[in-house]
Amino acid sequence: MSIPVILDVDTGIDDALAIAFAIRHPDIDVLGITCVAGNAPLPQVVDNTLRVLDAAGAPDLPVAAGAVRPLIAAARTSAGVHGDDGLGGVALPPTGRQPSPHGAVELMRGLILGSDRPVTVVALAPQTNLALLLRTHPDVTDRIERIVFMGGSAGPGNATAVAEFNVWHDPEAAAIVLAAGIPTYMYGLDVFNAVAIDHAVATALAAEDEPLPRAVGMLLDHRVALRDGEGAEYTGLIGDAGAVCSLVDPGALRTEVRPVRVELAGYARGQTVVDRRRFVGEDDLHGQAADWADVEVALEVDAARMARLFLDTVSRDVARSER
Ligand code: BDR
Ligand code: CA
Repeated sequence: MSIPVILDVDTGIDDALAIAFAIRHPDIDVLGITCVAGNAPLPQVVDNTLRVLDAAGAPDLPVAAGAVRPLIAAARTSAGVHGDDGLGGVALPPTGRQPSPHGAVELMRGLILGSDRPVTVVALAPQTNLALLLRTHPDVTDRIERIVFMGGSAGPGNATAVAEFNVWHDPEAAAIVLAAGIPTYMYGLDVFNAVAIDHAVATALAAEDEPLPRAVGMLLDHRVALRDGEGAEYTGLIGDAGAVCSLVDPGALRTEVRPVRVELAGYARGQTVVDRRRFVGEDDLHGQAADWADVEVALEVDAARMARLFLDTVSRDVARSER
């Protein structure tokens, strides 16, 4: 039976890869997609998402616009990583799809309460929409199977030395989501940075006739100009798409259930502290008692297995498999 899923995205090169994978995988039933400002400003995120759905040959899905900025922090984008258009300059054809007349929070609530099975929310972006949903409609809590989020790190960060971009962008939102008591799975930088596609494979995909493999190849092979006109190196990371892969192949990852908290102040703002101690700590003794949430944290991944799953899914001959 397929997994009913809502994707929350800030499309975003790797959000685009994640959407493509989710649409094409037969065990995932995408009920709808909600958009939030993050990698790009909100209108750009919505437009990118609709274009990606076209490229993936998706059915008519509701796509809603959500928060234009974080709960408290100032609005920022990651244009240095994803380019001014959020898609690294990969020009996907314009789309005739229209966003939902409802906002992201209302769409999520309607889809969650309207589903006959508990829904998995996959957050691939700053968690502003999700925090607003939980604050506005706490009645959805029991109907969420679990939250799978790309964000955080048990080790180094990327936005800062200790904070990963999605959590750093809206730490208060991430803290609200962690405190909600919903089973939560963290697909952080520890695994995010491991799963990549060979450059030769990406180049071959970019030369294909079918729209989706071609788009995927170009997105993997994007070159965003960094400071001083210096070009980014090819990384081939599938990024956010790995979090979606984890839904259908959880065995490709090694996880541990660990206490996690989000730092909200000082240089560590946005850091996810993952308590990996093997013994009971002395926090209380030192007056350092803190709020923690138990989270299933992905710590290692079979990168080759996941890359294969991603490639097999996005380059699947849809016409043949649907016969
Ligand atoms: C996260 O931030 C964005 O750049 C990516 O889309 C991903 O969700 C990685 O830190
Ligand atoms: Ca993202």
